[in-house]
Amino acid sequence: MSQWLNERFEVGDSIERFKNHPVPQHALNPMYCLGGLTFLSFLLQVITGICLAFYYRPTPEAAYTSVQFIMQEVSFGTIIRSIHHYTANIMIILVFLHMFRVFYTGSFKKPRELNWLAGSVLLCLTLAFGFTGYLLPWDQLSYWASVVGTEIVGGIPLIGHPLMLFLRGGLNVTAYTLTRFYVLHIMVLPILAGIFMLGHFIMIRIQGISDEL
Ligand code: HEM
Ligand code: HEM
Repeated sequence: MSQWLNERFEVGDSIERFKNHPVPQHALNPMYCLGGLTFLSFLLQVITGICLAFYYRPTPEAAYTSVQFIMQEVSFGTIIRSIHHYTANIMIILVFLHMFRVFYTGSFKKPRELNWLAGSVLLCLTLAFGFTGYLLPWDQLSYWASVVGTEIVGGIPLIGHPLMLFLRGGLNVTAYTLTRFYVLHIMVLPILAGIFMLGHFIMIRIQGISDEL
């Protein structure tokens, strides 16, 4: 396979090096798998999210009925929505556990400070995924959660109020809010998460996994 690619794209031995990269013994500890598991959950979310987006309709009139349609009519709709729902929670738990592992093993220290910062951005993006996704079914629970959530954003000093207006698309949670949350959820956040994960992984490759405690 690598020879086939090499003849066409001159990839050299980089694929072989990629495949044969040694994993240090101490990194076989399950605690060092938490970042990878977070990534796996993200991939699951992308796949199930795209499936949901084939049927979901982001307008106040249609959102709730489209979610009901997914649950009742679409083949495997219930299971796909359930996977998306539960994996969202699992991903958030995993990202925190991963962060605690990195903190506990002191892996944020030189030369990995920037990777800790990239990770912090990824944590915010993961929470933002959860927050924006929560509004999409447009039921009472999600509507009022978004009213309260954006109200809290409005409480941030200086930037809070403009940020709240930006998120809501006006003074109240309306159809504009739903459109904005949808665009954030399926376009802006996935692009940002992709960029920061790539940076995170490139830095891990360059710096290697941190040594044992
Ligand atoms: C290492 C993925 C969030 C900081 C890693 C590793 C992966 C990964 C696969 C390799 C080692 C391991 O799995 O433990 C992710 C993903 C994230 C995320 C997919 C979120 C979507 C974070 C957060 C932080 C962070 C929130 C900290 C605030 C680091 C650091 C390392 C690392 C400093 C290097 C650790 C070492 O060399 O021992 N990350 N991470 N990451 N991550 Fe994350
Ligand atoms: C809901 C798409 C990634 C969390 C939804 C819905 C769509 C969607 C269309 C509405 C359907 C529904 O409410 O069941 C996507 C796409 C993604 C993605 C295309 C990636 C490219 C994520 C990620 C998370 C997440 C990474 C969390 C970390 C949620 C939550 C809901 C949701 C909590 C509400 C689920 C529910 O009502 O039960 N997503 N999503 N999504 N999404 Fe995503």
